[in-house]
Amino acid sequence: MTETPNADTTGAQNPGRTDASQLTAVYPEIAGKVAVVTGAARGMGAAFAAGLATRGVHVVGADINEEQMTATADEITASLAADSLTATPGRVIGARVDVTDADDHESLAQVALNEFGRIDFWINNAGIFPFALVDDISPEQIAAVLDVNVHGVLFGAQAAARHMEPGSAIVNMSSVSALRVRRGRGAYCTSKAAVAHLTESLAVELGDKGIRVNSIAPGYIDTEMTRWVREDPAALAHALDAVPLHRLGSPEEVFGPLLFLLSDSARYVTGHSISVDGGSRHV
Ligand SMILES: NC(=O)c1ccc[n+]([C@@H]2O[C@H](COP(=O)([O-])OP(=O)(O)OC[C@H]3O[C@@H](n4cnc5c(N)ncnc54)[C@H](O)[C@@H]3O)[C@@H](O)[C@H]2O)c1
Repeated sequence: MTETPNADTTGAQNPGRTDASQLTAVYPEIAGKVAVVTGAARGMGAAFAAGLATRGVHVVGADINEEQMTATADEITASLAADSLTATPGRVIGARVDVTDADDHESLAQVALNEFGRIDFWINNAGIFPFALVDDISPEQIAAVLDVNVHGVLFGAQAAARHMEPGSAIVNMSSVSALRVRRGRGAYCTSKAAVAHLTESLAVELGDKGIRVNSIAPGYIDTEMTRWVREDPAALAHALDAVPLHRLGSPEEVFGPLLFLLSDSARYVTGHSISVDGGSRHV
């Protein structure tokens, strides 16, 4: 890798290090609201659930891995007393969902309604990131990626829209891969480009109901999904060469823009994608 200044605000010398410090921005108007977050057993979804709960939002975290989801919900709940940024933190419960199943999404919506009585925010975050060169992508692989990453977003938005009131917001997880080609990730890139475009379609049609729909396009974020980058020095060097800020991002750094998109500060923002990629979409 070429020598580059380390832009990590911690000043650490390890250029792959993320800045995982807690963000302190608070939007008081979201306290008491209710969010559904898919893929919340770990990674960004877990960080979103925790960040929202510390700001007073009640959260249904849902994942296909029910055991890990329950453990994550319990962990967040246990840390809330110390971490909360509001007098009354939100309640976090775990639920099972397979986002490829439209009926599962409706059941998930019912969990939120039964437990908390309303749905204000729905974050379609669950995703998979398989590797296969274009020559090798099998029909099963492309179907699986589109099922989780695209159909999952559509079914989630449909379920959310059936129950949301005007002023509610949906956020979908796209990726820098919607804009930039990554070798071996043809199916994934295709799916995330679809999410970006689907977000615009949803924003146009759900605007009739007063529901805003936006997406976030992260770059390399330090989660299990990108562990292979962090653990392979050559892959990490290659990845960071394409990141103007010269480090991986943390889930907390994606949470900040998500929080903005859910807040009243973004109440006239819809059909938009926010890149949270350290600038890598330009390289
Ligand atoms: N990590 C990154 O660098 C990065 C970059 C760009 C976009 N993204 C996107 O952000 C989102 C979150 O990524 P992450 O890094 O936290 O991933 P992750 O792999 O750490 O977590 C994904 C979660 O989704 C769950 N999941 C997978 N299939 C599911 C299904 N069918 N139904 C319900 N849950 C399911 C998994 O069990 C897991 O808990 C994904 O959509 C991903 O594509 C990640």
